[in-house]
Amino acid sequence: MRDLAIIPDGAMLIENGRISQVGTRAEIEPHITAQDSVIDAEQRIVLPGFVDAHTHPVFAGNRAAEFEQRIEGATYFEIAAFGGGIRSTVRATRAASEDQLLDAARRYIRWFHAGGTTTIEAKSGYGLTLEDECKILRVIQRMSSLEEGLSTVPTFLGAHEIPDEFRGRPSRYADLVIEEMLPRIARQRLAEYCDIFCEPGIFSIEESRRILTAARSLGFGLRMHADQLSDSGGATLAAELRVTTADHLEYTGARGILALQTAAVQPVLLPGSVYALGSTRYPNAREMVEAGLAVVLATDFNPGSSPTPSTPMILSLACTQMKMTPAEAITATTINAAFSLGRAHDIGSLEPGKRADFVIHDCRDYREIPYFFGVPSAQAVYVEGRCVWPPTQT
Ligand code: NIG
Ligand code: FE
Repeated sequence: MRDLAIIPDGAMLIENGRISQVGTRAEIEPHITAQDSVIDAEQRIVLPGFVDAHTHPVFAGNRAAEFEQRIEGATYFEIAAFGGGIRSTVRATRAASEDQLLDAARRYIRWFHAGGTTTIEAKSGYGLTLEDECKILRVIQRMSSLEEGLSTVPTFLGAHEIPDEFRGRPSRYADLVIEEMLPRIARQRLAEYCDIFCEPGIFSIEESRRILTAARSLGFGLRMHADQLSDSGGATLAAELRVTTADHLEYTGARGILALQTAAVQPVLLPGSVYALGSTRYPNAREMVEAGLAVVLATDFNPGSSPTPSTPMILSLACTQMKMTPAEAITATTINAAFSLGRAHDIGSLEPGKRADFVIHDCRDYREIPYFFGVPSAQAVYVEGRCVWPPTQT
């Protein structure tokens, strides 16, 4: 993870939205013809577009009022127990139309681009009825086909919370997810992955196993919110089921890490949610990296625990709070993230044959990206060779 394979004075050729050659400027320049257009990064750093492998970008409203309540002492759990938290976003999202949700998402797409992100994994999970979950997944699909140019990988997170109408009956709600939602979403090909919020008081280990096993039999890849608020066996279940990723892991101890290592499950670490919840309990990234795990870092962009779409902010937190080196953190937000989404052949590095999704950062040393924080580092963002940021003024 520390080897970024940097090419000093590098250059690349792009044809039809794909990278055709990568090398030094001296190697590439002779291949430029009179018809080609040239993008001169002027000695700046060029990186693959960031791949954000854990986001919840489709929701109505926001939770700025709860943010203030938490500052005044209420906990995330208390707010949720009184009907706030995820369930308040669910109520707002159910009331919104597909077009309204897409309009809200357009704003977030600009924010992702501004941070140098070109692909996001996007979860549903603020609908919690078949119709509302499908509505959100259609918005995720439409986000990908907008001319703005942000690719999305859709994940079904129907098991995100127990909705109001199923309070006290979590296994009845799990039945609905298994019997109605998963088969329909599979048939309509609305999601590639299935995720679950595995946490005592939300979905227990047993319910999580049941839902994920059903999802697998329908062909979904599996991801899990595990051990976010307690060490409750989430990582062990992730290893038992050999899911693709186990996400959060703030409370996972040495045994859980060993289990993930044995089962080759990729950890997805989300320091933005630790920071925004005002906690200091960051996941044990160092131990995971030392164990040889292909660690991923992501924003967890959502209106509750992590209202940031900024990967540069996550890089800063990973370095300062989790002691990942700048190089490890960049690997975790590019090629490792792409691999966790089954797209390492297509995105996540600048190599011949891959999509020309790249970012010119306004610096000459990649370490400046996590070092300077709270400043926009992406100067220009390209998707399939086309400039998508800054947006052209019309
Ligand atoms: O990843 N833990 C569950 N899901 C989100 C929070 C969602 C919300 O608060 O709206 C997370 O932190
Ligand atoms: Fe999340």
